[in-house]
Amino acid sequence: MKRVVFTAGILILMLVANFSFAQTKTRTKKTVTAHKTVTKTTTTVAKKPSAADLEAGKALLSKSDCLTCHKVDGPLVGPAYNLVAKKYPANEANYEQLTKKVIAGGSGNWGAIAMTPHPTLPPADVKKMVEYILSIK
Ligand code: HEC
Repeated sequence: MKRVVFTAGILILMLVANFSFAQTKTRTKKTVTAHKTVTKTTTTVAKKPSAADLEAGKALLSKSDCLTCHKVDGPLVGPAYNLVAKKYPANEANYEQLTKKVIAGGSGNWGAIAMTPHPTLPPADVKKMVEYILSIK
């Protein structure tokens, strides 16, 4: 009889140990997930262009050839920038898409006239120009 009680005691002890071990495991996982979420949020916030970024974009755009074909508030060879801003909400996907379009050039979204390609402009600079354009209201 004593032996049975002893064995049962050991079994219970093992179960309890196993249970608390499982709990620790779960807790560790949760902490990692929470940490990841926090990091993600911070990155998203940091990607929003600051007033300084927009100023830099405006300056870069003025130094390049953009204003020979674009005006802020009226059509020239290309569409007015305030219409471009109306068509595309200011978000990361549109920054990326339009940065690629400015570098590659091309037509079709506003008409048959093509924008000249800009392969020598650094993508980071073009992105700042696009961020400025999409901020025009
Ligand atoms: C030779 C004239 C020309 C120059 C120079 C030019 N663009 Fe354009 N741009 C156009 C035309 C034409 C379109 C319309 C293209 C279309 O219909 O898809 C356009 C469209 C755009 C669009 C909208 C693209 C879309 O797919 O909706 C952006 C943004 C833009 N230009 C930015 C710029 C920037 C920034 C520069 C300077 C680095 C620049 N453009 C220089 C003619 C020009």
